[in-house]
Amino acid sequence: MPVTPVTPVTPVTPVTPVTPVTPVTPVTPVTREELTMILRQLFDTESSTYTYLIGDPATRRAALIDPVKEHLERDLRLIGELGLTLTLVLETHVHADHVTAAGELRERTGARTVGSAKGAPCISDPVADGDTLELGALRIEVLGTPGHTDDGLSYRIGDNVFTGDTLLIRGCGRADFQNGDASALYDSLVGTLFVLPDHTVVWPGHDYKGMTSSTIGEEKRHNPRVAGRTRAEFVAIMNGLGLPPPRKLDVAVPANRACGRVEL
Ligand SMILES: [Fe+2]
Repeated sequence: MPVTPVTPVTPVTPVTPVTPVTPVTPVTPVTREELTMILRQLFDTESSTYTYLIGDPATRRAALIDPVKEHLERDLRLIGELGLTLTLVLETHVHADHVTAAGELRERTGARTVGSAKGAPCISDPVADGDTLELGALRIEVLGTPGHTDDGLSYRIGDNVFTGDTLLIRGCGRADFQNGDASALYDSLVGTLFVLPDHTVVWPGHDYKGMTSSTIGEEKRHNPRVAGRTRAEFVAIMNGLGLPPPRKLDVAVPANRACGRVEL
């Protein structure tokens, strides 16, 4: 009898391993805080100086404008509390009334220091009118605004402008030292700042009367030194102020040209 051939066993198809399902990352709702530029106004009571902390909500990169040496720890603490990383320190000019924290902040955080090419030789990145800087998704436009000093800069970020001592609320910086020039200051005020949209918010470098911010439109209408004044009238007002020298002039200017090193 013939032997029936054994039917070969069909090999078992290996089971394809199931690809694990990647868990869906829950979408965090976008909050107003994430969409709005971070902006904090900080104050030094001794010199009435405003320092500004600017942050990009998306990348958490931050800049300090005109930091004061005595408030370095306060400013670093706030930067930490807000979860920010300091990448830029911006100077509006070489100050005569306070010593900058720029150099020490650069040493402590690795931030780049930025100021006018005509100002402190120790800065990391000299800039001039028309330059732009990036802070994460924020674009910082450099405006040359000399006159209070010859190295004066303002920084425009969207609808905000940080005017240093060029434009103050209902006033302006003096123009009688550090190569100040009242006629150049008039051009900076009228020709550079007052051509910005009226709704632009003005953040000054100082205030001595308890004011905090203004707008370009408001200053065009109500700034007593420049609203409705001719260049000649403005220069006459500035030349007739008769102000005493700033208290820290002899210490602050050389220290600030060295980015805040007071031992020089
Ligand atoms: Fe100043």
